[in-house]
Amino acid sequence: MTNILSEKTILLGVTGGIAIYKAVDLCSKLVQQGADVHVLMTHAAQKFITPLTFGAISGHPPVTDLWQLYEGEQIGHVTLAHRADLFIIAPLTAHTMARLAQGMADGPITATALSSRAPLLVAPAMEHNMWEHPATQANLSRLKELGATVVGPERGHLASGGVGMGRMAEPFTILEYARIVLGREGPLSNLRVTVTAGGTREWVDPVRFMGNRSSGKMGVALARVARDQGAKVNLVHGAMTVPPPIGVNVIEAIRAEDMLRVVLDLLPETDVLISAAAIADFRPVATYDTKLKKEAGQGIQLERTPDVLKAVAEHRRKLGMPRLVVGFAAETTDIIANARAKMEKKNLEMIVLNDVTAPDAGFGVDTNRVTILTRDGAVESLPLMDKEEVAFNILHRIRGLLGGQSIGWSPGIGSVIPS
Ligand code: CTP
Repeated sequence: MTNILSEKTILLGVTGGIAIYKAVDLCSKLVQQGADVHVLMTHAAQKFITPLTFGAISGHPPVTDLWQLYEGEQIGHVTLAHRADLFIIAPLTAHTMARLAQGMADGPITATALSSRAPLLVAPAMEHNMWEHPATQANLSRLKELGATVVGPERGHLASGGVGMGRMAEPFTILEYARIVLGREGPLSNLRVTVTAGGTREWVDPVRFMGNRSSGKMGVALARVARDQGAKVNLVHGAMTVPPPIGVNVIEAIRAEDMLRVVLDLLPETDVLISAAAIADFRPVATYDTKLKKEAGQGIQLERTPDVLKAVAEHRRKLGMPRLVVGFAAETTDIIANARAKMEKKNLEMIVLNDVTAPDAGFGVDTNRVTILTRDGAVESLPLMDKEEVAFNILHRIRGLLGGQSIGWSPGIGSVIPS
């Protein structure tokens, strides 16, 4: 089970607002991620969309009436409430928010919310005057006090024709928060993980740089999955084609030099460092303030950039942190031997060997085929898989290395880390 949403029982409460069309998409996305979704609808919600739509998508007939909750044995509201891993209410109208804040139990959603001990995640959606009304704001504060996680609303075009606060958060954003809430007590919940991602850029002049093909997808997947498992995550990134995940501390570091500085600054608060960034090995000796004329470009001199992981190895000696360092290796020849040599040279506990020659793995694509090497000599080749699945596998092995022992850093080649 590599996805935090899979096999989770999720209640989706749907109230009567125009943003309900996004709830259909949210329901579908949750089901696609493997969640067992049970929908509860207020009467007002059924004026916008029939239960049939949610029933067809979730595979369960929605609960549409309070009394239905008491019929039969299978889905009494207590049973449903107790089985839930997470209760999402999206959209949440001002009216249902008020009822929840008061602890009322006059409909299927409010009654179930009161009976459930599952975390509550709500996505309010309403006209902006309703949102800004002190009564709504007071109800919002009360809901937060009661432990609810509130996503949005966002500013934008509203159904009323105006522009303002009140649009429901996008399904993708709600999904991300669902993952964060579900992962809060996860297996990495006491770890601080720093991930580097993307490609560095070394400036030639204001319009030109030396870069590389890295998209940042592998590092972002690692940051997201570590977050899903409860880790406190720093994502230090160069140029990327994908946005960083919600819920992680994001720091941009465009040049190798920036990456070195930021990573070293974070070391005292990093238990695990995963260096997935493609960091430049060379940079122009001089960076020009004005755009170079083409004739001048023929004479660009290069110099070495700092090796971030080597610098980390030196600092670990004094700091004793990070407890574990993982590198990536992009190799095209003698791949295992080269990766192993890199692991030794940079004093890593693990190195992840990327197949960068195949079109379906490595740079820019959503899938990867990796081989994981550890200091105990283990070599494990994984089949082609989604980058989040690769991330899950890497983190699983990191947990194995950290588990059952205190990994104080032991200097020198050949430090044995039991697996
Ligand atoms: N790396 C680093 N600093 C650099 C270059 C790379 O810390 N200046 C890190 C990468 O993030 C990766 C690992 O070192 O985790 C290996 O990167 P790779 O590019 O495969 O190796 P290099 O050290 O650059 O060696 P070479 O290019 O000679 O193979």
